[in-house]
Amino acid sequence: MKNVLVTGGAGFIGSNFIRQIIKNEKELRVYNYDALTYAGNLDSLADIAGDPRYQFIQGNICDPEQVASALREHQIDTIVHFAAESHVDRSILGPRQFIETNVMGTFTLLDAARQYWLTEQTFPKESVRFHHVSTDEVFGSLKPGEPAWTEETPYAPNSPYAASKAASDHLVRSYGHTYGLPFTITNCSNNYGPFQFPEKLIPVIILNALEGKPLPVYGDGQQVRDWLHVEDHCEAIHLVLTKGATGSTYNIGGENQPANLSIVETICDILDEIAPSPEHRPRRDLIQFVKDRPGHDRRYDMDTTKISGELGWRPRHTLQQGLLDTVHWYLSHPEWVASIRQKQEYKGWMDANYKSR
Ligand code: NAD
Ligand code: TYD
Repeated sequence: MKNVLVTGGAGFIGSNFIRQIIKNEKELRVYNYDALTYAGNLDSLADIAGDPRYQFIQGNICDPEQVASALREHQIDTIVHFAAESHVDRSILGPRQFIETNVMGTFTLLDAARQYWLTEQTFPKESVRFHHVSTDEVFGSLKPGEPAWTEETPYAPNSPYAASKAASDHLVRSYGHTYGLPFTITNCSNNYGPFQFPEKLIPVIILNALEGKPLPVYGDGQQVRDWLHVEDHCEAIHLVLTKGATGSTYNIGGENQPANLSIVETICDILDEIAPSPEHRPRRDLIQFVKDRPGHDRRYDMDTTKISGELGWRPRHTLQQGLLDTVHWYLSHPEWVASIRQKQEYKGWMDANYKSR
């Protein structure tokens, strides 16, 4: 691993990953390949932008020529593929872009890697790797009492987002099986932490609660996610890249499964404690149950026996501490938040998603 192309490195998880790998792998050069869609934000990497081992390339994963020239120009031997449309609610209101980016974009990257690494035999096969970052949502939804998902669980995606990610996972696997492309896949659960775009549950609730706005809880709020701190996730990806078996998939989860309502209540309590506002106290009073998401998955739970047994990975953050740190992070980064929230695209999305609920 010498020259790593990180796709989607200006997004939430990609930017955390780049920060971590630049710090921990001193010999590595990292190329952040990102189209800067609404979710991409170079401010998230302002602290490492001047590092000589880091370079940003504005590029689209759906553009075969752009991808091929990035691989060639920088002699890329490792691809860590985060770039995607990632928000389930957006996939319900506008699925087409999800198929374009998540399916066609992944296909375009895979095919460029096949050409550059395998057809042209640029590097020994043992020294290249395509790592694909996927989601637990490919497995569908668990009923009460059903066991956690393992790497052997059959795929049953329910939303257009989950289906597009499932399709991309299958493409990666097929490039390994048919062409011998060295790959690994990680399927992880819901991430939270610094730099998450404020359209996902946790930042929406933190920011609305701070401002005394209603806190939208879909349906009965009893849906369960397996919350994973983004830094634990990035450590797991690093381990899989360096020690994981080629051709393998690994499940990553946070070992935390509270209901959404309980997450929202915890954030309210944290804010009441560290940012008291007599006007809005108690913030739990701001909770509003709103119209449910169509096809809303009920419960996710990841069995992480494989990654902990093979690679010794365990999440380091407890949910309580991780949420507290995350609330502190949003409180101390008002410019980062404001630069996103002032954009018309963001306001338009918030109206489209919440006004009719
Ligand atoms: P994000 O939406 O915050 O960021 C996505 C990034 O991809 C943005 O920087 C965007 O500009 C870039 N991008 C989008 N389309 C592109 C294109 N065509 N070409 C180049 N760049 C493009 O996403 P995230 O939350 O950081 O998620 C990263 C990956 O992890 C995704 O593949 C997602 O499916 C997966 N994942 C996320 C979560 C989660 O909880 N956030 C959970 C499981 C899996
Ligand atoms: P989200 O952060 O969008 O992630 P995902 O859909 O990938 O799990 O949502 C997390 C959970 O929170 C999900 O069950 C939907 C719910 N949710 C709300 O109740 N209110 C909201 O405003 C949002 C954005 C999500």
